[in-house]
Amino acid sequence: LNNNNNNNNNTGEINQHHLPKAIIIGVKKCGTRALLKFISAHPDVAASLNEVHFFDQNYHNGLDWYRNQMPLSSPHQITMEKTPQYFINNRSVYRIAKTFSNIDLKLIIIIRNPIIRAISDYVQLTTKRKSNLTFEDYVFIKNSTIVNEQWTPLKIGCYSRYLIKWLKYFSLNQIHFVDGENLIKRPWEELLRVQQFLNLTIHIQRKHFYFNRYKRSFPCIKDHFHPTKNGCLGSSKGRKHPKIRDETRIVLENYYKTCNNRLKQIAKINFPWL
Ligand code: A3P
Repeated sequence: LNNNNNNNNNTGEINQHHLPKAIIIGVKKCGTRALLKFISAHPDVAASLNEVHFFDQNYHNGLDWYRNQMPLSSPHQITMEKTPQYFINNRSVYRIAKTFSNIDLKLIIIIRNPIIRAISDYVQLTTKRKSNLTFEDYVFIKNSTIVNEQWTPLKIGCYSRYLIKWLKYFSLNQIHFVDGENLIKRPWEELLRVQQFLNLTIHIQRKHFYFNRYKRSFPCIKDHFHPTKNGCLGSSKGRKHPKIRDETRIVLENYYKTCNNRLKQIAKINFPWL
């Protein structure tokens, strides 16, 4: 099963490129890679492991191009992709809605504590730019305790602001929310709910996970279907986070309060950190 290199699979069905039936649309730095890696261990999932960026960047290439980016799969498999940029990209919202207007598409959104998400984004950008600025240098307007609301890593964490746009086109029962904090602690619980949402038989269970001490105790997957694959994520995932000042945390908790409450209401979810 899931042999994406052959045109015929072992049940005699012809493998072809299919448009996705489910898309992980975001959110950046919340565990999108881990989620895709874990769900693609399911034999009935065929996932594009690269971020396709069709609806935000490559739309001009057309739908056939998009379909061809997907792995070969049989009709009974669920084709998936993840591009975290879609969630915050206005054009992607209506383009996805238009493309899938007659097709039942499922959307998956993984979110985590927005303060930790911002730190994760900060670590990524300082690693890339080799910058020495502290988290606080970005969070506060120079020489003040006023939050710099224009700083994108802070903006993204107000998930409700973006979700409202998706709900103009998609109903809540087409959307599944994954708790990114729990994906790190008890990934099997989140994977169970994702498999249920996708109407998959339950394959991925607790016994498939182990915690890697060398990877700061992040979970890895034992993939029986692809035993040669490394079950842990690469070195750019699970980076060490700096300690931030208590006052910064308090200011940001306050800053996100309204967004988090709004999200609870409109998404009808209640994650412990919300
Ligand atoms: P950090 O590297 O800042 O810790 P994304 O894949 O959306 O970019 O998210 C990256 C984040 O996923 C990581 O941020 C890490 O906290 C989180 N994550 C969740 N599960 C993980 C896992 N099993 N291994 C590594 N990182 C994981």
